[in-house]
Amino acid sequence: MKNFTSVKDIPDLKKAVETAFEIKKNRFAYQHLGKNKTMVLIFFNSSLRTRLSTQKAAMNLGMNTMVMNVNEDGWQLESELGVIMDGDKPEHLKEAIPVIGKYCDVIGVRAFAKYQNKEDDYAENILNQFVEYAGVPIVSMEGATRHPLQSYADLVTIEEFKTKERPKVVMTWAPHPRALPQAVPNSFVEWMRETDYELVVTHPEGYELAPQFMGDVKVEYDQNKAFEGADFIYAKNWASYSSYGKILSKDFGWTVNEEKMKLTNNAKFMHCLPVRRNVVVTDGVLDGPWSVVVEQAANREITAQAVLKMILEQAQ
Ligand code: CP
Repeated sequence: MKNFTSVKDIPDLKKAVETAFEIKKNRFAYQHLGKNKTMVLIFFNSSLRTRLSTQKAAMNLGMNTMVMNVNEDGWQLESELGVIMDGDKPEHLKEAIPVIGKYCDVIGVRAFAKYQNKEDDYAENILNQFVEYAGVPIVSMEGATRHPLQSYADLVTIEEFKTKERPKVVMTWAPHPRALPQAVPNSFVEWMRETDYELVVTHPEGYELAPQFMGDVKVEYDQNKAFEGADFIYAKNWASYSSYGKILSKDFGWTVNEEKMKLTNNAKFMHCLPVRRNVVVTDGVLDGPWSVVVEQAANREITAQAVLKMILEQAQ
């Protein structure tokens, strides 16, 4: 694997799941791979899990790590091409990225959608400049349209907890006070479509995801109906794609609660975190027998390590 920006970069998904479970049994078995290698983690946006789990994954493989919160620690970086740089940004990505590439062997980058322009966000302007100019492998730590490290951990979590070969997996929109990115739901759907699970997406009208991610995935606008017989409930808020970046609803009728979980087949509750309690999901669900959100977050370390292992093995 040269870069990791989507599920398409994984040559064999079944094998990738096996690799993750193998790492989980002994996460220090491959320390030789990262000896004298360095990973730089560049954050344009906040993080708790991605930052710590990716750093830990790199350290498990014997790598050195350097972390930079670009907006706070460095020069403000211009990302637009062909721009006259007479504003407040003194450095362009076209110089900054290859320079960072000279100091390391792998770069992780997080750059969310800005929700100012759909075409710019969906072109992955920042992530793709890293791929083009870095000269070293790039790991997406969440781009404008995808969060593949999260989705890989989600898949491993489902494999870990499933009680039948072909579980029913329901991704539900849930309310939120802020306009959140579409990267997690896009990516989750993209990865689930590579499995043979039964996948249902439920959301209010107006929250349809981009067609290139949804394909022919079933949408059920009645959340209760979608939950019937589900083995996994994956909750997430996202802002509208058609009315780009807009909040169309804050309806607490979509909050995941105990009554709704009782419609399921004793489903496990999943969320990528951070999650707003009693907005997205009730205390009762998060503190009850359904929730696997902490185990899901723990798998972020494992799957980040699996990705780095594949990259380091290719580079040998
Ligand atoms: N789920 C996730 O990516 O968490 P952070 O934003 O805290 O990294």
